[in-house]
Amino acid sequence: MKIANMAAKEKVVQPRKAVLDMPEYHPPLAGRDALRLDFNENTFSPSPRVMERLHTITADDLTRYPEREPVERIVAEHFGLQAQQVLLTNGVDEAIHLMCAAFLDPDDEALISTPTFFMYDVSVQMMTLHLRKVQADETLEFPFERFMASITEKTKLIIVASPNNPTGAIVDREHLLAIAAAAPQAVLMVDEAYYHFDGTSIMGDLALVPNLVIARTFSKAYGLANLRIGMLAGNADLLKYVRKVCSPYNVNGVALSCLPAAITDETYLSWYVEQVRIGRERLMDGLRELGVPFFRSHANFVLMNIGSKHKDLVKAMHNQGVLLRDRSADPGCDGFVRITIGLEHHVTQGLAALKISLQEIGWSATV
Ligand SMILES: Cc1ncc(COP(=O)(O)O)c(C=O)c1O
Repeated sequence: MKIANMAAKEKVVQPRKAVLDMPEYHPPLAGRDALRLDFNENTFSPSPRVMERLHTITADDLTRYPEREPVERIVAEHFGLQAQQVLLTNGVDEAIHLMCAAFLDPDDEALISTPTFFMYDVSVQMMTLHLRKVQADETLEFPFERFMASITEKTKLIIVASPNNPTGAIVDREHLLAIAAAAPQAVLMVDEAYYHFDGTSIMGDLALVPNLVIARTFSKAYGLANLRIGMLAGNADLLKYVRKVCSPYNVNGVALSCLPAAITDETYLSWYVEQVRIGRERLMDGLRELGVPFFRSHANFVLMNIGSKHKDLVKAMHNQGVLLRDRSADPGCDGFVRITIGLEHHVTQGLAALKISLQEIGWSATV
């Protein structure tokens, strides 16, 4: 017994090398008891139909394993797709993870442009060390020509967010089609998490582009971030492999039960999206008035260039009861802070707090 214990002490279990080396993502989620303009969530509520549906969930419902397929059929029909062209996932976070698990061998290359959503880094590097990153220039627009030039015959997975996070930039449909055509050996995953706030999508091209997969989330416009539900839409032959690496019960039954109510309440969805679009114009006007440089956004957030006082601003805003997200650590984003757009009174509160906070920290356009 004593010898066995000693042996156990000498040997330390190590994870896979890729796990040791991969980056960690720790979103600053603690203490968010304030106006949430930090995570690009819906700042109000899901559709009232979702809230009604939640109240009908019974104890018996909770005892059952969830059934994803019937809801996939409903979602597919809603989007004009075949059931096999849709996979529901535990948020787009899981969709990214599953795409990497299904398509990336250790020798394969993946391609992204930066700055972008950090979970691509995490999930890709769990599978391969060969992640190519093409950095945007100071405009933070998608670097199309350099991106195309970075495709090699080893490229197996390409991930492009449009609109992108944290920049708010979109990628032209023609550019996305050119990327897919230039890399027939690779899957192009277009992450349309913020699709509703811009309205342009490549979904209509799915039938013609065999290597295209689109990710959509129900966390943002639909307001279901806490239920964890997203989807992949694409070629059924490709999704067959993703389904293979996916747990049968990856999406919980509460989310599955609420999703049909969320997607069919188009009145609520368009109302919320319109609120954000109006708020985005108001916010950008307000930033112009304050003299704060920002990047024109197609999403439900705006990236501002605060400069060296970025940390002070986030702190001062927190004291004013408003949460912002410091994006300074993102590549090419030194001094940048992101603010989410919500309902009219949230934008009003955000702008008022911003005015006070900028004054308080002694900010001026040259700092
Ligand atoms: C571009 C992008 N994709 C995906 C996600 C994650 O979405 P989900 O909540 O569905 O996991 C986010 C969340 O911020 C995002 O910004």
